[in-house]
Amino acid sequence: MNPTPTAPAGLFISFEGIDGAGKSTHIAGLADAFEAQGRNVTLTREPGGTPLAEKLRAMVLNDAMDPLTESLLVFAARRDHLLTVIEPALARGDVVLCDRFTDATFAYQGGGRGFDLAVLTTLEQWVQTTPALKGGPLRQPDLTVWFDIAPEVAAARLADARTPDRFEAQPVAFFRAVANGYSARAMAAPERFARLNAEQPREAVWGDLLAQFDQRGWLKR
Ligand code: TYD
Repeated sequence: MNPTPTAPAGLFISFEGIDGAGKSTHIAGLADAFEAQGRNVTLTREPGGTPLAEKLRAMVLNDAMDPLTESLLVFAARRDHLLTVIEPALARGDVVLCDRFTDATFAYQGGGRGFDLAVLTTLEQWVQTTPALKGGPLRQPDLTVWFDIAPEVAAARLADARTPDRFEAQPVAFFRAVANGYSARAMAAPERFARLNAEQPREAVWGDLLAQFDQRGWLKR
């Protein structure tokens, strides 16, 4: 008798780091690697990932606003994204690869802008509570890959990039504060974070990234 086929468990992975850390190509590479092993992948990003959240993203990246407004908009985008994309994908058993999630809010709005972490924690509870996001445990990524890089190195990489948005246009001191924000989040939940040295050549970063997934039995090399 054939065993009853069971859907694979959904996997929620977020990717973080200051602007210029070089996460984008690695996220695309991971999507290909999971698909090559027969997994369905939902590749998405924050702020964004839904038509409404992409509109909010355009405002957050381009329009001047105070830090509370900025925080409310990124969490509003996140709520829509969770309800309409992330939760259904996890329920189907997809691998969800999300370019930034709530740690970015703690790092950019909390660290970079100096906004109240207690308010962010309250918003996190409101927005990320499951099941069906109405009660129960807090939804967090199963793993957060943190591309750690010195702000000066990231700034040099960004110098040749396209027209900067409101964040990319910030001075190195802002990114130092953002990096400290990431560091604090990683220290508060070490089991969820995988820190990569993103100052290495791209192939070495990719090797370290694959090792993290191999180690957890999520991708076979
Ligand atoms: P990013 O992810 O770097 O995309 P791209 O590679 O297209 O520039 O840009 C998103 C920007 O939004 C980034 O500078 C960080 C910022 N951000 C916040 O300030 N708060 C958040 O909660 C999120 C998710 C992103």
